[in-house]
Amino acid sequence: MAEKVNSRQGEDNTMFSPYKMGNFNLSHRVVLAPMTRCRALEGIPQPTMGEYYSQRATQSGFLISEGTTISPTAAGYPRVPGIYSEEHVGAWKNIVDAVHAKGSIFFCQLWHVGRASHSVYQPGGAAPISSTNKSLSARCKVLLPDGSIDSHPDPRGLNTYEIPEIVEHYRQSAINAIRAGFDGIEIHSAHGYLIDQFLKDGINDRTDEYGGSYENRCRFLLQVVKAVASAIGPERVAVRISPAIDFLDAIDSDPLGLGLEVVKRLNNLQKELGSKLCYLHVTHPRFWLKPTSQLGIPNTEEEQGKLLRTLRKAYDGTFMSAGGFTRDAGMKAIAEGDTDLVSYGRHFISNPDLVLRFKINAPLNDYNRKLFYTADHVIGYTDYPFLSKPSET
Ligand SMILES: Cc1cc2nc3c(=O)[nH]c(=O)nc-3n(C[C@H](O)[C@H](O)[C@H](O)COP(=O)(O)O)c2cc1C
Repeated sequence: MAEKVNSRQGEDNTMFSPYKMGNFNLSHRVVLAPMTRCRALEGIPQPTMGEYYSQRATQSGFLISEGTTISPTAAGYPRVPGIYSEEHVGAWKNIVDAVHAKGSIFFCQLWHVGRASHSVYQPGGAAPISSTNKSLSARCKVLLPDGSIDSHPDPRGLNTYEIPEIVEHYRQSAINAIRAGFDGIEIHSAHGYLIDQFLKDGINDRTDEYGGSYENRCRFLLQVVKAVASAIGPERVAVRISPAIDFLDAIDSDPLGLGLEVVKRLNNLQKELGSKLCYLHVTHPRFWLKPTSQLGIPNTEEEQGKLLRTLRKAYDGTFMSAGGFTRDAGMKAIAEGDTDLVSYGRHFISNPDLVLRFKINAPLNDYNRKLFYTADHVIGYTDYPFLSKPSET
């Protein structure tokens, strides 16, 4: 049995025991994972998104929004919402209000896809921006607004002097998210998107102060975290990383080493700020692991568990895990102190009342993968059946 590392919340660590996450008192540990659902219209969140999120909200539960773009260059999927204009803020406000009315805490995930985009999404049809000029491999494809798929065009590596402007976009978007009523923000630094394109040595080939050493590869992330934390307060800021996930060619020669270097820097930053961040969210490698995975990515369930456990032990604060968790695996990870919170993705898509179903160990609805990214506001989005009336969750 794994060593118990989290005694700070007392002995009663179960999926349904309360958890104090910084300033937020959660009534249980089942979190809605951030999930792109492509139901916004030209970047503007739509009213049905309020229905979708509030269906999944519970009293003192915790929800994370879909990846939400921080600037016009940040999108790489159709119909993703933004948080950089007044219209975005106004539209999100209604959605956040609907979630708050159900008693949940709601964070906005801030997203820039970097090179995982296409010229159709870029202002003036320009090349997507990245840490590098290197293209994604042919196995990676991008979904276009008309539903077709295409290869990614060659990206344009950012000039050093352009980076502060991107950091400013994160800062302003965080302020906007708070203005829209969100309780905090999660910085998407995972899954091969812009910040991960700086972190991973399989992508980042820069020769300036943003490339090479760990210090340099972590610099962009740390600058973003600092800027956002100083704008809205560290206790409202969370970070998501996936050091061992090779989605979108995001390969690192030493995933655990990279994860520990990020954690070390976040711990130091927390000391410097005199306050903890809200949480660190790490995606379990099993979510993306493909036979094409490169050496260095842990292969077995045991190796992957060890990687997460090592990061969890090293991080000084609330730890959230995601990726392929079943009810039982989540319960076990919490009970053994491997994580404080578990975020659920696909099961939460098809089970709006997932929390209740987990509580009473009810069967789950199957999800329909084909409807994950479609435009319909009902089918595959808000029409998954409840076990009982939404008000009873
Ligand atoms: C349809 C879909 C969209 C997703 N979009 C995002 C996203 O916007 N941001 C993010 O960090 N992760 C995203 N993910 C990953 C999920 O947050 C989660 O880590 C993943 O689904 C693994 O959890 P699960 O096995 O419980 O589904 C997405 C996953 C799915 C299935």
